[in-house]
Amino acid sequence: MAWRERCDLHRVLLAVVLLGQILLSSAVNHMWWNLGVLRNPQLYILSAQPLCSQLPGLSVQQTKLCQTYQDHMPAISRGARLGIRECQRQFMERRWNCSTVDDASVFGPVINIASREAAFVNAISAAGVTWSISRACRDGELRKCGCSGALRPKTLHRDWIWGGCGDNLVYGYNLATGFVDIREREMNHPRFSKELARMLMNLQNNEAGRRAVYKFGKIACKCHGVSGSCSLKTCWQQLPPFREVGERLKDKYDGATEVHFNRQGTRLDRANKLYNKPTKDDLIYLDRSPDYCEPDPKTGSLGTHGRQCDRRSESTRGCALMCCGRGFNSFKKKVKERCHCKFHWCCYVKCDTCEKIVDVEVCK
Ligand SMILES: *[C@@H]1O[C@H](CO)[C@@H](O)[C@H](O)[C@H]1NC(C)=O
Repeated sequence: MAWRERCDLHRVLLAVVLLGQILLSSAVNHMWWNLGVLRNPQLYILSAQPLCSQLPGLSVQQTKLCQTYQDHMPAISRGARLGIRECQRQFMERRWNCSTVDDASVFGPVINIASREAAFVNAISAAGVTWSISRACRDGELRKCGCSGALRPKTLHRDWIWGGCGDNLVYGYNLATGFVDIREREMNHPRFSKELARMLMNLQNNEAGRRAVYKFGKIACKCHGVSGSCSLKTCWQQLPPFREVGERLKDKYDGATEVHFNRQGTRLDRANKLYNKPTKDDLIYLDRSPDYCEPDPKTGSLGTHGRQCDRRSESTRGCALMCCGRGFNSFKKKVKERCHCKFHWCCYVKCDTCEKIVDVEVCK
């Protein structure tokens, strides 16, 4: 196909995609997380400037940032995807499993409730952007930043070299603050209003997410010297693995603090003085979560009918909790697995494939 034809085809495709999104999503709360689930982000991002205004999910000010920082958008989009994937992995075995819906709200109406789950989603998304921007700087992908400028840690062995190109956590943190929080700050809300409470909640949880990355930068080193003797080391700043960030935020989710307005209606305070005061690293929520047992279009709960569970487990993946007391059906399933593995000198492992019958339980 000639280049020009392909270009036209892209335009037509884009028009169809956009029209579809406009028709489908009039009543939907658009979120920038949508950048993480766009089927073909290149279509929007690598094309001409005006496309920022058509990216579904961006707020007015985010659209302006998109125009100024166009080269950042692929990394922001990857960050959003990183957050969504990690959310689904952390919540795989829970009633609410971080499932997405097919519109620009990404997580559906569930997130309109100011719940712990909403708190986690805000935090992990902000963390995702912090992470992927820090890495994009290091990879030389962005015009405005490069390798980390972190100072040599005082604890680093004096013979080792502080050099190499590290992840730029400072830039990642600052950019994620600008891009993610701006959506909350676009409007003024009156005291005691629901909107103000939600804004304060989101800002706190966004910050907790960024900190779960920023505060846990690591030092990575590489050996040099004669035949890997490691007499010489070069070290640099490195991001924590995103899995670790997800686990940290999951702990914060478990320990999240319920909050409500202070007496002036301007700030949020813990709802119960017996709880610890939340720090900037902690997640907060305003509303108790639904139980997510039954499908409910109003809350966006999908229910747990048909979800797989484990009859022997007493945790959230166990049938007792997962099925909300409705019980479960069991059946047998054939699975293939590697077996009779032998180590061959040198160096590979050879296995057979065996079939095995396993029990599967599924919620009624
Ligand atoms: C989450 O659970 C729903 C049913 O409640 C199921 O349809 C869906 O496949 C699950 N999604 C993920 C990402 O595990």
